[in-house]
Amino acid sequence: PLPASLFDPITLRGVTARNRIWVPPMCQYHADARDGMPTEWHHVHLGALARGGAGAVIVEATAVVPEGRISPEDLGIWNDDQRDALRQIVDFMHGQGALAGIQLAHAGRKASTYRPWAAERGSVPVDEGGWETVAPSAVAFDGYAVPTALTLDGIAEVVAAFAASARRAVDAGFDLLEIHAAHGYLLHEFLSPLSNRRTDAYGGALEGRARIVLEVVDAVRAEVGESVPLLVRFSATDWAEGGWSPEEMEQVARWVADRGIDLVDVSSGGNVHARIPLGPGYQVPFASGLRAATGVPTAAVGLIDDAHQAAEVVASGAADVVLVGREVLRDPNFPLRAARELGVDLDYTPPAYERAYR
Ligand code: FNR
Repeated sequence: PLPASLFDPITLRGVTARNRIWVPPMCQYHADARDGMPTEWHHVHLGALARGGAGAVIVEATAVVPEGRISPEDLGIWNDDQRDALRQIVDFMHGQGALAGIQLAHAGRKASTYRPWAAERGSVPVDEGGWETVAPSAVAFDGYAVPTALTLDGIAEVVAAFAASARRAVDAGFDLLEIHAAHGYLLHEFLSPLSNRRTDAYGGALEGRARIVLEVVDAVRAEVGESVPLLVRFSATDWAEGGWSPEEMEQVARWVADRGIDLVDVSSGGNVHARIPLGPGYQVPFASGLRAATGVPTAAVGLIDDAHQAAEVVASGAADVVLVGREVLRDPNFPLRAARELGVDLDYTPPAYERAYR
């Protein structure tokens, strides 16, 4: 693929984002803990990000089954009431000119935790609103409860839940769906030999460890049809000896691209505690390496928080899209500000804000 400019539109399967600054999924821990429903916080937070000029805003990790929530305060999309509530947020986002994406997620052995600003750490006990977790194998994440290994029926139920949730997401109006296979959550736990000790068809060699991911991709694609762009988020590496690696990701990315994944969102880490060499754009080389080796379109993410830096990632051909996370929490209008800093005229500055961006 040829390099482009940050403010060029990008089209996936006939669906066009107005530019290549997208907002990655970011959990807000503000859903109703009784039922995974969005709250006013989500309307305001996501509405502001859409208004801020992003090409697409991907809604936070949203659980496909109740036990797939990271915390009790996570969003869910396992029922139709959740679908209908999310539709109202999607409608507002569309009114602001942004595509609406959603990350479909199952937290596996890292489910049932406290929100980050709670005093407690580790697993929420069952009698305090937590639940028993599932994973490929009965291997705990450091400091968390030991999960139950999924049976073959349990795996089939997870795959079916991703497909049913994808259907609800499309019916809610979402333009893009992202399958969460990163950060040590359920699908990443299957991919990594550090968390997958299975000896059946879902473990062992890479074909086995990747099987559930391919089944989820196939089931989601079959459910939503050919017109919906699908993304997968991978962690490129566990940053740990004997762990999942960029080479394995490259192979699985080829497989998912062959099965109709349109763009791979390349993050890293999260499956085991590890020392990660943080720095500006520190994960960009994983996205550019994957794009160069496979030709699969990629999104780069991680400490990209400056307009010129973001423009360079796209212009250099390192990635097709940049995802800007914490910087849009500091300034939801980062895309509008970036256009101003780069001297790009936008025809979608909110009219009420035009005097600020001249
Ligand atoms: C995140 N991140 C994240 N990742 C993901 O795949 N699903 C999620 O729901 C969340 N939730 C989340 C919440 C908050 C508050 C933050 C700050 C981050 C990770 C996020 O998508 C992104 O990959 C990182 O934040 C790195 O990008 P930045 O922030 O350096 O631009």
